[in-house]
Amino acid sequence: MNRLSQPPLSPELLSRTVDWAITTRRSMRAYLPTPVPLEEVEAILDIARFCPTGVNMQPWRVHVVTGEVKDQLSQVIAQLDDDPASSLGLEDAYEYYPRQWVTPYIDRKRQVGWELYGLLGIDKGDKQRMHQQHGRNYRFFDAPVGLLFTIDRVLQKGSLLDYGMFLQSVMVAARGRGLHTCPQAAFLKYHQVIAELLGIPFDQMLVCGMSLGYADESSLENSLVTDREPVSAFATFHHNNKESVV
Ligand SMILES: Cc1cc2nc3c(=O)[nH]c(=O)nc-3n(C[C@H](O)[C@H](O)[C@H](O)COP(=O)(O)O)c2cc1C
Repeated sequence: MNRLSQPPLSPELLSRTVDWAITTRRSMRAYLPTPVPLEEVEAILDIARFCPTGVNMQPWRVHVVTGEVKDQLSQVIAQLDDDPASSLGLEDAYEYYPRQWVTPYIDRKRQVGWELYGLLGIDKGDKQRMHQQHGRNYRFFDAPVGLLFTIDRVLQKGSLLDYGMFLQSVMVAARGRGLHTCPQAAFLKYHQVIAELLGIPFDQMLVCGMSLGYADESSLENSLVTDREPVSAFATFHHNNKESVV
């Protein structure tokens, strides 16, 4: 396949397949130990690199961690995370979330949080179990492959926009191969130790992490299916200088 290739499917199957890959991408938080060949990971990155970027800057750098390196990284982060004296003052690589949470974002944040904890039977006040569940982030939810994405610090917000397209392309290409993912901002707090362990130079900033593997479809956490607002809630169609509602 190349950038001028003809579609490999009929128009109907093509749209259904692309739509399927986008719609069935969900953040999966439990994985089977089934290994993912590194050639498969490379093939996914090889597709994702075709996403668009402002003046074709292609700002991504990807660190793929598996095996002992992944385990060591997970262990070091877990130790820090379980020790408030070491982790309390740590600052995220950048501000991913808003400083001030307002409606409707705070409501959606709460909903997804309580839905996930509710499925797992974790009560609102159970800080220890919430911490434990959050800590599974640092084991990449037991996925066999962890991805850590970085960007050159000299770049601007626009390049983060480009980066988002790359991340989504990685996740969609993974779906096409029967794989699942979970993008993870949780790693941002531990960007310094990640940089040390992986030899990432200071001019690169951590953008996020990602778990990649075959999802454990039978796990409770993976039964979470998040909702979306309908198109009518966020799109306005303008025509003849009149707003029309869909
Ligand atoms: C950049 C980014 C960072 C995220 N960070 C985390 C994370 O650290 N841990 C986690 O469990 N989910 C994380 N998520 C997943 C979101 O919670 C999830 O995308 C959202 O709830 C919608 O659910 P869905 O992905 O299943 O459609 C992240 C998503 C994005 C896009």
